[in-house]
Amino acid sequence: MRTQVAIIGAGPAGLLLSHLLARGGVDSVVVETRSQEYVASRIRAGILEQSSVDLLTEVGLGDRLRAEGHEHRGIYLNWPGERHHLDFVDLTGRTVWVYGQTEVQKDLVTAGTAQVFYSVTETTLHDVETSRPHVTYVDSDGRPQRLDADAIAGCDGSFGPSRNAVPSETFERTYPYSWLGILADVAPSTDELIYSWHPNGFALHSMRSPTVSRLYLQVPNGTDPASWSDDRIWEELALRLGHGHDGWKLTPGPITDKSVLPMRSYVQTPMRHGRLFLAGDAAHIVPPTGAKGLNLAIADVSLLATALIAQFKENDPSLADSYSDDALRRVWRCTHFSWWMTTMLHTGGDPFDAQLQLSQLRWVTSSSAGATGLAENYAGLPIGF
Ligand code: FAD
Ligand code: DHB
Repeated sequence: MRTQVAIIGAGPAGLLLSHLLARGGVDSVVVETRSQEYVASRIRAGILEQSSVDLLTEVGLGDRLRAEGHEHRGIYLNWPGERHHLDFVDLTGRTVWVYGQTEVQKDLVTAGTAQVFYSVTETTLHDVETSRPHVTYVDSDGRPQRLDADAIAGCDGSFGPSRNAVPSETFERTYPYSWLGILADVAPSTDELIYSWHPNGFALHSMRSPTVSRLYLQVPNGTDPASWSDDRIWEELALRLGHGHDGWKLTPGPITDKSVLPMRSYVQTPMRHGRLFLAGDAAHIVPPTGAKGLNLAIADVSLLATALIAQFKENDPSLADSYSDDALRRVWRCTHFSWWMTTMLHTGGDPFDAQLQLSQLRWVTSSSAGATGLAENYAGLPIGF
């Protein structure tokens, strides 16, 4: 089989890239190891920044998002005895939207623009340094296949083969904690997200809909989710999120999903090698505290689609040549912001660190310069920053 762009991975990066290329008149084929049902039901990110919403709307994927998503003006920052609202609209004129990654994924599948081969195995990249790169794989019926292309987009996340095909420098930071995440069938106890510092560890109250809440607790690495009973989770969330302060109450409910997510910062440079371009988690991972992973994947493929359309429709390689540098400017900004939010809000027992964190929290909630810096990064810089 032949196509212009062979895309590896049908996560949000791969499917959106295929959609954007199709709109620009460039053909692509996507190969994915998992089944369509598995990819569609993975519970992951929940917050879209303004530029992601603008892009999805512009390319015809905004109808359900605007009907069923929830626009938030800002977030709350909380620590024992204090709760402060940061209003991104007042500070920057921008908002964020609560709309799950699973919903973005469904909208992309419904759009039907991407030709995807699911449940493939043995995906292998070949000749990426040449003008005739290709991908081989075994299809869902067990037949070996070859996909010839003019370019390959590695959108296969942090465990896929693409990133190993790029000779690169890697930058990494690990953290001594993870998140225990739950999904619960209960109305959120807050109108906007609460990020909470507590001596016992960070907690986050997020949501997916008016009837479904998503909450997280900082836990030590290696924690077994089964070691936390539902009652213990709700008690610890109530304590860390400030139940009882100023009459605020956390309402518990049935937990429908419980998992532990490790945290890591990782950047691989460059994001291009010959005819292979990396996008999304294949090139970089951020800890989830700033809600940037999905938004960065969207920003990468927006740049990459524009570059590949210029290359294949106008024979202009300049944007493809600068893709890695252009994308990495935003990647490093988000990597810093995610690291900063993570280290400001997670506790490790060191009393000096705790005082610095509380001082930083007081500054971002009382100084308009501090608040604006957080708001600008959280609500997201324009694509192309
Ligand atoms: P992915 O979504 O990982 O998609 C890559 C795709 O490539 C997958 O479908 C995979 O099956 C496929 N693939 C892998 N190997 C191959 C192969 N050999 N051949 C073909 N296909 C292959 N971000 C937030 O902002 N907030 C969150 O709360 C949050 N929670 C997360 C929870 C988890 C468990 C994980 C893993 C990530 C989370 N993230 C979160 C990050 C966010 O979900 C990612 O940044 C986002 O999914 C990146 O999209 P992507 O398309 O680049 O990668
Ligand atoms: C969610 C995840 C995040 O990492 C975050 O910062 C905000 C919200 C969520 O899953 O809803």
